[in-house]
Amino acid sequence: MATAVYPGSFDPVTLGHQDIIERSSKIMDKVIVGVLKNNSKSPLFSVEERVNMLMSVTGHLPNVEVQSFDGLLVDFVRQCGGDVIVRGLRAITDFEYELQLSQTNRVIAPNVDTIFLTTNLKYSYLSSSIVKEIAMYHGDISAFLHPEIAAKMREKMDHF
Ligand code: PNS
Repeated sequence: MATAVYPGSFDPVTLGHQDIIERSSKIMDKVIVGVLKNNSKSPLFSVEERVNMLMSVTGHLPNVEVQSFDGLLVDFVRQCGGDVIVRGLRAITDFEYELQLSQTNRVIAPNVDTIFLTTNLKYSYLSSSIVKEIAMYHGDISAFLHPEIAAKMREKMDHF
């Protein structure tokens, strides 16, 4: 039984992330979405909010689980019995960072490999940071986020 861990900040989960989760869930027996708790990027949403949002948009996928983690990704992968890390690759600009991440992870945990799914072309430009910037200026974010997540984002921005 092959288990993949799909890690990230998910601040918040975008349609691009959802696409990677759905496609991974078809390839793997189980997918654990790992939400990084202590993120140096100072997330807009708390880890509980990010986990809950992910749970709500993946509820229809029976082999997907959402958990938060702290510390090293490879330790989390080992703890949850993961076989492989999944990451999405959008454009060439992602490549250098992703290569560094996956190679470092393999040096510190030689048994933990990373596989990449290229992002659906529809979402190849999309990032949580850009969506947050648009939301900050009250722009239309409906093309980037699940309606429920878009509503949460608008709510958050109203309190700023
Ligand atoms: O969605 P993101 O923010 O690009 O995800 C980055 C993430 C969470 C995969 C990465 O920051 C990570 O794995 N952090 C955990 C700490 C760790 O293991 N660092 C060493 C990796 S080289």
